[in-house]
Amino acid sequence: MTHTPLQGFPTLADLERVAAERVPDRVWAYIQTGAGEERSLEANRAAFRRWSLRPRVLSDVTSVDLRSRILGREVDAPLFVAPMAYQREVHPEGEEGVARAAEDARVLSIFSTLSSASLEEIARAAPSGPRWFQLYLQPEFARSRELVERAERSGYSALVLTVDVPVLGVRDRQEAGGFAIDASVPTGNGPGVVPPARAPSFRGPTYELPANAAANWGILDDLRSISRLPVILKGILSLEDARRAARHSMEGIVVSNHGGRQLDGAAASLDALPAIAEEVGSTLEVYVDGGVRRASDVLIALALGAKAVGLGRPILWALAVGGGEGVREYLSSLSRDLATAMALTGRRQIAEIDRTLVQRIP
Ligand SMILES: Cc1cc2nc3c(=O)[nH]c(=O)nc-3n(C[C@H](O)[C@H](O)[C@H](O)COP(=O)(O)O)c2cc1C
Repeated sequence: MTHTPLQGFPTLADLERVAAERVPDRVWAYIQTGAGEERSLEANRAAFRRWSLRPRVLSDVTSVDLRSRILGREVDAPLFVAPMAYQREVHPEGEEGVARAAEDARVLSIFSTLSSASLEEIARAAPSGPRWFQLYLQPEFARSRELVERAERSGYSALVLTVDVPVLGVRDRQEAGGFAIDASVPTGNGPGVVPPARAPSFRGPTYELPANAAANWGILDDLRSISRLPVILKGILSLEDARRAARHSMEGIVVSNHGGRQLDGAAASLDALPAIAEEVGSTLEVYVDGGVRRASDVLIALALGAKAVGLGRPILWALAVGGGEGVREYLSSLSRDLATAMALTGRRQIAEIDRTLVQRIP
């Protein structure tokens, strides 16, 4: 019998527990914690528990097809690996391992501006993708432009502009755990690439932030003027902003509270999803991330209007325990579980997952 890296960790809770033992405490604090009192982090999971599934029976489910299209490209499942910085801190294979795993699973993966590996190294590791580049605006637009041009040259097929980080959220537990997001953590995209500011500085009588915090909706025109790639806004939680993204002809939005790491008290991603998807889902593609752990979560999110569903921390747990091979195994077991859940709800195709699949628990 061949041994696989995640063998012996039958549940996700086991995987999380063992991952905690595999990475240094400071990295664990970085991965796991949320902002403030972690209300939004907890809310993400709690939101899924307010929905139940309404299975339909006797639907001939001998063949279940998870294939979907994301911005026109066929993928094997309506999932994506969310952008997460500094992956070599978690495992030496880092982003390259994750990219290979996602490519093998034919699942979309998104890579952060603050990746440990350079965007070119990631592209070389998994040349056929599909792969998107997540942009953190740099204080000078010329720097952002360089990153965008490099991503385009390296075959990234869309830009994901993260819009919920004009400044990092107040991450007390992460900092107490000894992990500070600053120039001390090595990144792969070059010494000129900087993370968002950790806090505003008091310059009496006001608090000041670096120039990347100056961005307004006009930045989208600037991005359009330098790239032909589709643009997706990540970190939308309000209907007003979703409408505005549609008016600016964005190709997609990720409804997200950044895994509860930014504004503590912000809505759970899943709670924000249904109204947004209903209003703009026919104009642009609506994705969601935050608290997605199991196949039933994926079904609920799809039923509430998401076109694809993002995975954050579980990917890092699998990476910590088994490197890229661990991520491959996690993705394949989640896809199999999704096929099981579809068979159990009488859905043969992703297109058959609709609002009638879920009901709100009174
Ligand atoms: C360790 C870590 C690092 C992250 N880094 C980034 C990043 O660089 N850019 C970004 O847009 N989002 C980042 N995120 C947010 C994720 O893309 C995603 O929104 C979130 O993790 C989803 O929630 P989940 O972890 O509950 O699945 C990060 C999340 C984690 C856990």
